[in-house]
Amino acid sequence: MGLIKPFAMGGRVELAKTNWPGVAHYLEGSTLLLIPVGSVEQHGPNGLIGTDHLVAEALARRVGEEEGILVAPTLAYGMSHHHLAFPGSTSLSPRTLILVVNDLLSNFYRNGFRRFFFVNGHGGNDSSLKAAFSEFLLDHPEGRTSLANWWLLPEVVEKEKEFFGKVNGYHATCGEVSVTWHLFPDHETPIAPGQAPDPHHEWPLGPDRFRSLYPDGRMGSDPSLSTAGKGAVLFDLATRVIRERVREFGSAP
Ligand code: NI
Repeated sequence: MGLIKPFAMGGRVELAKTNWPGVAHYLEGSTLLLIPVGSVEQHGPNGLIGTDHLVAEALARRVGEEEGILVAPTLAYGMSHHHLAFPGSTSLSPRTLILVVNDLLSNFYRNGFRRFFFVNGHGGNDSSLKAAFSEFLLDHPEGRTSLANWWLLPEVVEKEKEFFGKVNGYHATCGEVSVTWHLFPDHETPIAPGQAPDPHHEWPLGPDRFRSLYPDGRMGSDPSLSTAGKGAVLFDLATRVIRERVREFGSAP
């Protein structure tokens, strides 16, 4: 029996690092699963390609640790068609993302999970995630789904406005760059001051059109204002708000 290490609350929260008896034990007390989702796409000349999935993963793991909730392996790839004119970016198509998410939910459901809370780091995933939830809920009446887009949480929006004003921008934002500098200080890459072009209110965009409107990949942001200290504040704030939402979701009838 020495090989079986049941899941212990308040420590091992990664599904990938537990085992099936541990998960079975967990399911006796909770059917809640956190699922981080992001993208693999350019984030301007100084932002990390993995920004969206790395931040979502860090947030989900922090909340999972604090609340004793299992965290599924991160769905790192997302719907990033508009970024494909930049090297290092790749994408699932919207329909593929819907199918992948529906498959994951349906098969976790088969094993006993019922409540799925997605921590999302990427705007391009939002509509496909919600479409996947609609598909899943049709056939799984006891299933429950919820989604937190961390950068759109009202508390985070307000704090970013206070920190960066209008030049926070819409992609490769001061806020998300700050959070990655907080999480990965070895990857802090400064950038010369200057605001990227403002959005043209044309959406969605194909990859070539995107690059012609936003030549260096940023949308309206001036990430020279980013600091790891501000990133720490934003990360803690997002953690607190998501934790509250997870608690509410987990205890709802
Ligand atoms: Ni991003």
